[in-house]
Amino acid sequence: MKTVVVCDAIHQKGFELLEKEDDIKVIDATNLAKDELLKVIVNADVAITRSPTEIGSKFLDAGKNLTAIVRAGVGVDNVDIENASKKGIIIMNVPTANTIAAVEMTMCHILNCARKFINSSNDLKINRNWKREKWYGVELFGKTLGIIGFGNIGSRVAQRAMAFGMNIIAYDPYIDPTKVTSMGGVYAENLDDILKNSDFITIHTPKTNETIDIISQKDLDKLKDGVRLINCARGGLYNEAMLVKGLKSGKIASLGIDVLEKEPATNHELLEFENVGVTPHLGANTYESQEKIAIAAAEQAISAIRGISYPNALNLPIRKDSIPEFVVPYIELISKMAYFGAQISNGSIREIHLKTEGDIGSYAESMLIFAIVGAMKHILGDHINYVNAKFVAEEKDIKTSVATLEEKDYRNKATISLITQSGITEISGTVFSQTEQRIVSINGFKTDFKPKGKMIVFKNRDVPGVIMSVASILKDANINIADFRLGRGEEGYALAVILLDENISKDIIAKISNLSNCVWAHYAVL
Ligand code: 3PG
Repeated sequence: MKTVVVCDAIHQKGFELLEKEDDIKVIDATNLAKDELLKVIVNADVAITRSPTEIGSKFLDAGKNLTAIVRAGVGVDNVDIENASKKGIIIMNVPTANTIAAVEMTMCHILNCARKFINSSNDLKINRNWKREKWYGVELFGKTLGIIGFGNIGSRVAQRAMAFGMNIIAYDPYIDPTKVTSMGGVYAENLDDILKNSDFITIHTPKTNETIDIISQKDLDKLKDGVRLINCARGGLYNEAMLVKGLKSGKIASLGIDVLEKEPATNHELLEFENVGVTPHLGANTYESQEKIAIAAAEQAISAIRGISYPNALNLPIRKDSIPEFVVPYIELISKMAYFGAQISNGSIREIHLKTEGDIGSYAESMLIFAIVGAMKHILGDHINYVNAKFVAEEKDIKTSVATLEEKDYRNKATISLITQSGITEISGTVFSQTEQRIVSINGFKTDFKPKGKMIVFKNRDVPGVIMSVASILKDANINIADFRLGRGEEGYALAVILLDENISKDIIAKISNLSNCVWAHYAVL
C-alpha cells in the first residue's frame, strides 16, 4: 500500500478522490506543526503541498520514500527543485486552476488602491469613524495600468482593467508583443517604460532570481508621483524596503498586496500604513479554484503514485519551456500508452519502438524516454525513472527506436509498439483540441477512449452474444460499466474496451478469458 501525505489544507473533493483508491493510504497532516510533519513525511510516497510548506532540504531528507510532490497551486518558489531532482523526486504543480481567482483578487486590490474601501471600512468598523472627507479616491477610468508579466493572469487582468476604461502597458520579454498590441495595449520594450508611465502597476511573474526586487530601491525615483502598486503574485518582487520608503515619502499613494516576503506576516511594517490594503495570501482562495486544484492535485498524485504519468511535472528530462505547448500532452500520452500496452501484453518486453506522425516528430527522441518508463514501470515499479530509463533498457538488452512517418489520418499521432516473445502490442494515440488525449487504435483495431481509469480490454471473435456474456459476468459480480468501446480491425474479430467504476478481481478476467469466443482479455489501470 502506497501513502499520500496531504501537508496543507486542500478542498474536501481532493481527499474524497484519494480515499476512493483502495491501494492508497491517505494521511491528513494539514494540522500538524512543522516538526510533526517531518516525522509523518517519512511514510510518504507522494506529498501534496501548498505555499505554507517549505520544500527544502529538511523536508526532502525526511521524505526518504518520496517519489513525487504535487504542489496544489502554481508557485514553486518554496520548493528546492534542484535538490528534489538530485534525489529523483518529481515535482508537479497545478498551473492554471487558480488563474481566475488570482485575476479577480488582483482586480479587488486595484479597486482598493483606487478607493481604499478595505481601509475606510476598517476605520468605520474598528474605530467607529464616519469620516467621508478622509477617504477620497481616484478613478480607474483613463489611468494607465502597467502590467509586469503578461501570461495567463496578467493578460486577463488587462482585459478586465480595459473594461474599466484603463490604458494598458505591459512588459514581458517572453511573449510575442502582438499578444499585448492585439488587445489594444502598448508593449513595453523595457521595464523603465512601465515605471515611468504607469499610474497603477501590477505584477504577475513567478518569483525567480530575475524577478526578485524587480522594482528595487534605485527604481523608486523612476516611478510616477502618486503611483499605486499591486502585488498578488509573490512577496519580494517589489523590494519591501522600497515600498516602505515610497509610502512614507508619499511617492506611492497606495499599495495593494496579497503576498509578503516572509509569510505568515502579522508584524510587518507595511501593515501599519493606512493606505496599504493587505490580505493574507488569498489569491487562490475561492471555493471554485480550490475545488479544481484539489481534484487535479489528487488525480496527479494518484497517477504519480502508480508511476503512470507525471502531469505538469517541472523536473522531467525535457524542459517544458523548451518544447511547444502542443507537444506537452503527447509526452504524457506516450507514457500512458506504453504503460497501457505493457498491461495488455503477454511476456517480457524485448523491444520498445515509438513512431510519430506530424510535427511532434521533432521531439521523438525525448519522448522515447517516456515510452520506456511507461512500458517498464509495469514490471520494474520504482526501479525505473526518467533518469535511468535508457540505461535500464540497455542493461536489459531491450531494443528501442524512434521513427518519424508522414502524417496520414491525424495531424499528430504517436504509436508505441511493444514486442515480447509472444507478439506485438501496438497502441496509437492522438490529442484533440490541444489537451484531450485519446487512444485511437489498439493492434490495428480502431477505438476512441481517454487514457484514464480502470478497464477491461478483450479481443473476441466477431459473433453474436459475446458482449452479452461479458456484461452478464460483470453484472453477477455487481460491477458497474462506465463506458464501452467496440472496434473492428482484423477480419472476423473485434476488440472492446470496457471502462469500469471499480477495481475487479483476477477471477473476472479469468472468466472472460474462458468464454469460448474470447481470444484474450486483460485488465488495465491508467
Ligand atoms: C499559487 O502559487 O498557486 C498561489 O499563490 C496560491 O498559493 P496557496 O496554494 O498557498 O494558496
